[in-house]
Amino acid sequence: MKVTVFGIGYVGLVQAAVLAEVGHDVLCIDVDENKVENLKKGIIPIYEPGLTPLVKQNYEAGRLNFTTNAEEGVNHGVMQFIAVGTPPDEDGSADLKYVTAVARTIAQHMNEHKVVLDKSTVPVGTADRVRGVMQETLNARGVDLTFDVVSNPEFLKEGAAVSDCMRPERIVVGTDNEEVVELLRELYEPFNRNHDRLILMDIRSAELTKYAANCMLATKISFMNEISNLAERLGADIEKVRQGIGSDSRIGYHFIYPGCGYGGSCFPKDVQALIRTAETIGYKPRLLQAVEDVNDDQKMKLPGFIKRHFGDNLQGKTFALWGLAFKPNTDDMREASSRVLMETLWAAGATVQAFDPEAMDEAQRIYGHRADLKLMGTKEAALQGADALVICTEWQNFRAPDFDVIKNALKQPVIFDGRNLYDPERTSKRGFVYYAIGRGASLQIA
Ligand code: UDX
Repeated sequence: MKVTVFGIGYVGLVQAAVLAEVGHDVLCIDVDENKVENLKKGIIPIYEPGLTPLVKQNYEAGRLNFTTNAEEGVNHGVMQFIAVGTPPDEDGSADLKYVTAVARTIAQHMNEHKVVLDKSTVPVGTADRVRGVMQETLNARGVDLTFDVVSNPEFLKEGAAVSDCMRPERIVVGTDNEEVVELLRELYEPFNRNHDRLILMDIRSAELTKYAANCMLATKISFMNEISNLAERLGADIEKVRQGIGSDSRIGYHFIYPGCGYGGSCFPKDVQALIRTAETIGYKPRLLQAVEDVNDDQKMKLPGFIKRHFGDNLQGKTFALWGLAFKPNTDDMREASSRVLMETLWAAGATVQAFDPEAMDEAQRIYGHRADLKLMGTKEAALQGADALVICTEWQNFRAPDFDVIKNALKQPVIFDGRNLYDPERTSKRGFVYYAIGRGASLQIA
């Protein structure tokens, strides 16, 4: 099947590569010439396990192509995916200017029936807007062509994007046209073999499903973080509580890990966007607002512990930081807790010696060269001469470090752990002062 994908970001590129991998003929359009040229050379703009070979192989096989020529893109596929960004505007609502620009482009150049699929996370009602913009453009052209607009949200996770896309748990399709369903079944057939993963619904429900999923996950995390704050004050250990409640199959073990706050390109943005949507229809979303507030506070936990230990003035202090990415297996630092941490430490006069297995270039890109940020080549190098170690991301190779090396390198044996990687008792027996999230006992020791 011929497929066009507008927007070669995370969602667009992974979806395009996976569709090409199963045999579809995919053309990707982006306004960024540099990105398009690089992709043709096999240079991938993001770090994502398995993506580089997938893009290269399918490009070489001629099933995956890239261009900046929008007209060529519109003429290529019957299926036209919109996978451009929906950044938050000043008040946190999703800004739809890129989505509507693509809708206009499709309508400007189309010469036959098109199926337009919204892959981007877009507020409820966006399909109607896309339809409106397209109809207006067609009217202005004076042509009488038909088209469908489908909501087909993407649920992939960064760091597991290729496998999530290859083996989706569900394929949500929102449409008001039965005939389109057949085309979508054909498109997604390779992913739908063992059992039917297509969940059909009306367009608005599909649009809301995406927000509801992300907001539910964010709610689980903020809930656990709130309980961890209670555990800390009550002398209980949140990690024990987590296992205790996770064993209830109605609750489950997934997504109940307390920590120094959720980040990334989706949760913070989508929670905010749904809050704004609710407000525009006169509904006060108390729970969602609390989810956001708890998370904002949670990102201040590690800076709070550090100031509790060292005092408010951190002039002359150096902190080793392990983990810059918002989670492991990605180089993405959008809304990462590490950023709030570093910016708070800098404001108090401290220097940061940071190490991340993937996000060093990204940190450099965001912060440039500054005297109070030293990007170190290894996690051991980051420790040298630092006053304490701070952990923001649970990369696998931070889980079992050589504690003697840490102790010898640090001026004082203090660890601030935002991801609860170590056993508090064992860590304190090793001679460390250990601050973790919601582990009452360890904080009393501290
Ligand atoms: C998320 C959704 O999972 C995905 O379905 C959607 O399509 C996009 O948004 P992603 O942003 O890649 O994916 O990250 P995810 O793995 O969900 O983690 C988000 C944040 O939550 C991370 O900062 C992570 O550290 C944090 N988190 C996750 C916790 O603090 N505790 C948990 O138990 C799980």
